[in-house]
Amino acid sequence: MLRSSLLYLSRQQRIFDFVKNVGFARKMASRFVAGETIATALAAVEQLNAKGITASLDLLGESVSSEAEARDTGRQYLEILDRIEQKKLQANVSVKLTALGQDISDELGLEVVRQVLDRAKQYNSFARLDMESSAYTDRTLDTFEHKLYPDYPANVGVVLQSSLRRTLDDVERANRLKCRVRICKGAYLEPATVAFPDKADVDRNYVEAMHRLMEHGNYPGIATHDELIINEAKRFAKERGIASDRFEFQMLYGVRRDLQEQIVKEGYRMRVYVPFGSQWYPYLMRRLAERPANIAFMAGNIVKE
Ligand code: FDA
Repeated sequence: MLRSSLLYLSRQQRIFDFVKNVGFARKMASRFVAGETIATALAAVEQLNAKGITASLDLLGESVSSEAEARDTGRQYLEILDRIEQKKLQANVSVKLTALGQDISDELGLEVVRQVLDRAKQYNSFARLDMESSAYTDRTLDTFEHKLYPDYPANVGVVLQSSLRRTLDDVERANRLKCRVRICKGAYLEPATVAFPDKADVDRNYVEAMHRLMEHGNYPGIATHDELIINEAKRFAKERGIASDRFEFQMLYGVRRDLQEQIVKEGYRMRVYVPFGSQWYPYLMRRLAERPANIAFMAGNIVKE
């Protein structure tokens, strides 16, 4: 109930317009968002790299409504890739097709994402297409498989969500392509027709998808903070003789920092998703929806300061 209310609020632009200048809300955001500028985000990446953790930079923002905004987002991604290369950081980028103009037209989204991928290819870098709500799953996967992956097989990857009923079929499709997949649980409120309403089913589906990706896929990103699943990944890798450099764990900036460092110490690869930018509100609300206890936790910390 609280989760669905928070996810509902995440889509209310008017509430963001109201809270964006409220100090308390901005402070809560700073727990999960690495500032509003490329410079603050790169500083966060430097700190992670110093701990042996790689990063994926995400310029926050979802569906844009004008071509100018889409092109501007694309330009900022080019700058991010340039800066990563200049500073020799261990980082790549994550992009949302709707932030690059897909909702205005497929052609625009495709043109802008190809500019980003051309730059990624120039630097032997990588861009992950984040997965949005189920309204976008088919469009995103079709664009990925038919219009991007053939030209950038080493530079582009996709995300699958274990909350969706279709996902094991998509895992098989991805394994046949040999493309890189990030598997996550899924952050959006979805109807029971397309997604499992029970968390236990989402978790079971995650483990099955993860096993198939680890055994037959190409360098999967295991994106979760769920320790049971992380332990299962380690156990499965040992049982099947899958070397620790054939997959990576991924977590979100500011979430389970203790576990991020522990995983690196154990000799596994760890990548942290580093969101930044002024459009932090929907992202923050999705993080609070995942763990409403964060509201009390952060409020307590802010009041203490
Ligand atoms: P789950 O929600 O079951 O949480 C397991 C445990 O992790 C909790 O008990 C708690 O201890 C801890 N935890 C989880 N979330 C927390 C939080 N916000 N604060 C503090 N502790 C928390 N989704 C999507 O739809 N499309 C996408 O492209 C991506 N991309 C993505 C990249 C990366 C690197 C990650 C880690 C996640 C995503 N996600 C995503 C989000 C994902 O779908 C999911 O919503 C979150 O990861 C939370 O699910 P967990 O797997 O962590 O498990």
